Formats: sequence, C-alpha cells, structure tokens
Amino acid sequence: MNSAKRLLKISEMVHKVVFVLGGPGAGKGTQCQKIVDNFGFKHLSAGDLLREERQKPGSEYGELIETYIREGKIVPVDITCSLLERAMRESGTDKFLIDGFPRNQDNLDGWNRRVAEKVKLLFVLFFDCSLEICTDRCLSRGAAGSGRSDDNLESLKKRFNTYVNETKPIIEHYEQINLVKRVDASKTQEDVFEDVKAAFVDMESAGDN
Ligand code: C5P
Ligand code: MG
Repeated sequence: MNSAKRLLKISEMVHKVVFVLGGPGAGKGTQCQKIVDNFGFKHLSAGDLLREERQKPGSEYGELIETYIREGKIVPVDITCSLLERAMRESGTDKFLIDGFPRNQDNLDGWNRRVAEKVKLLFVLFFDCSLEICTDRCLSRGAAGSGRSDDNLESLKKRFNTYVNETKPIIEHYEQINLVKRVDASKTQEDVFEDVKAAFVDMESAGDN
C-alpha cells in the first residue's frame, strides 16, 4: 500500500459513529438535530436517505423503497448501506449520528460486513418510549402535514411490529456488549435533551470520542 492510500485508510479508521435507535415517533430526528447543534456531529437518517432516494427520478429502487416504507418493512441492507456510505464519504466530516440504523439483523450483518471495521462505534443511543406515546406523536405529525406515507394508523401498526420483533433484538444485542445509553424519551423534548447531553458529556469525559 502506498503512503497516500495508507493515510486514507487511517483517516477512514477514525470515523466515529453513534447509532440512534428507538420506536417510530420516539424523537430520534428531533434530538439528533439538537445533538448536531451542540456536539458537532453530522446527522444521517437512514429513513431520510431512503425517502430521498425514492424521490429521485428514475431511481432503480424507488418503487421498492416506497413499498417497504408503507409496509413498515426494512429495506435490504445493501441499498441502505450504500446510501449511508455515500453520505459519509461526501460529508467531509468524521463524526456521525446514524439514525434509524441498524434496524434488524440484516442491517447489522450488512454493516458488519461492509463498514464496521473502518469506523469506531462510540455507543448506541436508545430512545425508550411507550408505544402509546409514539403512536400519538406519529399521528399528530401526520395530521400536522408530515407528508409521510407511513404516518397513518395502518402503517404505524406494521412499523411497531417491525420495531418490536426486529429492532428490539438489535438493541438487546448492543446492551449485552454494554454499548447502549438509554434515555427516557417519553418526557418533553427539553428534558429528553438534558439526558442526551449527559450521555455525550459522559463520552467526552471518558475520552472515548
Ligand atoms: O426512521 P424512519 O421512521 O424515518 O424510517 C421510516 C421507514 O424507512 C421505516 O419504517 C422503514 O420502512 C424504512 N427504513 C429501513 N431501514 C432503515 C431505516 C428505515 O427500511 N434502516
Ligand atoms: Mg426520523
């Protein structure tokens, strides 16, 4: 490997990642925005990247993505991972909040296969919130004109099923290896952010970042 390539490899290796997980409506996107403003991370939402890809005229995967989203199912990882990898490459930064990923075992396997070795996973931020509160938030968001094809009761039921059956086991996997920082996400945005801040300050003082 020549020195330029080696340098590139080293700079890739120091990319840092925080995964952000939680049910639909737990407040992942809202809190990520606050983290970006306060801690200088780049926010990459897997759901947003998929919605963006779906909108692209002539996108090879547009229809597939729309069907998966409406059905609350998890898109095959190679599609999602490619979008994430491209966004990371193009961002010019090295600290990422990856929101809504890994959502199932396929996501986790794909990440481990394609990316894990090149980045440092700092921790998994888990927004824990009851299904009742999550449902209310998503329905209000839909009523307020989110324009999302999945903020309706029928899609929400499917999204919750996916969350409970497929995403929860991924959170449990990370809990077993002590990488999860859990936040009670049923509180107000401001109170949730107090706990989120504590998680990031903890990380900074542990010298993990
Ligand atoms: O995170 P968000 O609620 O925006 O995700 C919306 C939808 O996008 C999910 O219900 C799922 O259909 C799709 N998605 C996915 N894989 C991910 C993240 C989101 O298929 N890792
Ligand atoms: Mg979101």
